[in-house]
Amino acid sequence: MTRLVVFVVVVIGFFSITFLDDFKHFPRTNKAFDYQLFKKERNDKLKILVDIEHAKLEALEPKVEKPKPVFTVDLNTEGLKRGHKLYSKCIVCHGKLGKGKKSQNAPKIGGQFNLYLVTQIKDMKSGVRINKIMNPYVKKLSNQDIKDLGEYIAKLPW
Ligand code: HEC
Repeated sequence: MTRLVVFVVVVIGFFSITFLDDFKHFPRTNKAFDYQLFKKERNDKLKILVDIEHAKLEALEPKVEKPKPVFTVDLNTEGLKRGHKLYSKCIVCHGKLGKGKKSQNAPKIGGQFNLYLVTQIKDMKSGVRINKIMNPYVKKLSNQDIKDLGEYIAKLPW
């Protein structure tokens, strides 16, 4: 009987030792367990996982390109409407938004003060200010045209 008990104990002991081997993969260190460090490492890992999920979601969303806002003058007066029409002849040199064109030596006039614009155009028409390039365009303008042009150009972005 005793021999049987010893035999069973030895067999159980043998298997226990082989199973103990399974715990090898646990990190074994003689350093003291640092809970704060453990928490930090775990949070860092979680953050990476969350970032990956976010990136996946972003990739799924269809990319919509926002259209660039187009600048338009609110043509809410008769003067502005006429000014807008008359300005179509000036676009070649001064540009759609009155930003000017280097190739034409034409200065920026968009957003300039109304009074300044009107004075300059009137002076060009009367010959006080000589502007040979613009002369053919200015000659035909009436005082009302000049007033409307000034009103419109002053509304363009500076
Ligand atoms: C053929 C090109 C051309 C066209 C078309 C033209 N301009 Fe000009 N404009 C010029 C040039 C070049 C100057 C600069 C002249 C100078 O050096 O004095 C100028 C100057 C001006 C100035 C003076 C700007 C300043 O800061 O003193 C005003 C205002 C102006 N133009 C308005 C107009 C208007 C309004 C029209 C349309 C009716 C027009 N221009 C059409 C070429 C043009």
